[in-house]
Amino acid sequence: MLKTKSTRKNYKVGVLTGGGDCPGLNAAIRAIVRRGKQLGFNIVGIKNGWRGLIEGDSKTLNEDMVSGILTWGGTILATSRTNPLKVKDGLKKISRNFKKLKLSALIVIGGDDTLGVVRSLPRNIPVVGIPKTIDNDLKGTDFCIGFQTAIQTTMEALDKLHSTAESHHRVMILEVMGRHFGWVATYAGLAGGADYILIPEIPIDINQVCKNIQARIKRGKEFSIVVIAEGAKLKEKEIVTKTDEKDIFGHARLGGIGDVVANLIKEKIGIDTRSSNLGHIVRGGTPCAFDRILGTRFGVKAIEMIAKKEFGRVVIFKENKIKSTSFSKISGGKKVDKEIYRIAKIFFG
Ligand code: F6P
Repeated sequence: MLKTKSTRKNYKVGVLTGGGDCPGLNAAIRAIVRRGKQLGFNIVGIKNGWRGLIEGDSKTLNEDMVSGILTWGGTILATSRTNPLKVKDGLKKISRNFKKLKLSALIVIGGDDTLGVVRSLPRNIPVVGIPKTIDNDLKGTDFCIGFQTAIQTTMEALDKLHSTAESHHRVMILEVMGRHFGWVATYAGLAGGADYILIPEIPIDINQVCKNIQARIKRGKEFSIVVIAEGAKLKEKEIVTKTDEKDIFGHARLGGIGDVVANLIKEKIGIDTRSSNLGHIVRGGTPCAFDRILGTRFGVKAIEMIAKKEFGRVVIFKENKIKSTSFSKISGGKKVDKEIYRIAKIFFG
């Protein structure tokens, strides 16, 4: 335990944000700096995620620099998709710069990819992790920073689609991010009154989708709203991707399944169908209250764990409490909660 303020005076804590940005990251950075300063730490912001530590790109953060950022989307530290394991001497450079910057510990804010790197770091780098991703696909934590704002944004888009769908007697499909899991689609679809929600966890049964749309027409509802997760796929078909390229962590760029399903609906039941893709809009904007609070609670917990020398762990949100778990327990992906999907399903068709 770093008991006194004077023992912490020469203790420099680095903080980085990696992977896709999301609203609520700045709330966490602000909390780390504000609570860190109270505890007597020096806080160093690492630019652009792991890339900043490979290149030694950093700036010292003080209270003034984080004043007013609670409401901002994105990350003041900027981010990148950098996999140090794929960069020549990446881990060695991280180790070298960690020493050169005289850091004593690191707070890593990221999703599965960014946090996954920690397990390969040299043992002399003490780390605490914070989970963030709009995909909400990290195990161990009920929610990650960014997810609640993403579902709010998606719900608002669905509200807007409703009026145009109804006026034109159309099926409107909204494709949303979420990678290989349907958290955003399910939660936002439930909040936005979707008539069908298609997620990667359940292969798409296009005939069932069409039956539901037709059942609604019979009831006098001549429009339908379908939310589809970018990773959803038709039975016995491949996932739809934008390009053949893969990113540095081996992920394909997903997108396009909304158009595929729209064409099939038109073909099968002849109803006018349009598809929109919310794309990166879902990651933008100011954080909702929940993400500001979650980011703040995670940030405070992370720096307090550093004060207690509780390294090698990730802060988590479980049953409305902020706790921590080991890095190995959060990776591997997390399927949508079956109970939530069951409830959403009650309102299909
Ligand atoms: O992991 C977050 C996420 O927004 C996914 O939902 C999406 O598939 C991906 O990132 C998009 O990545 P990029 O910002 O590199 O286009």
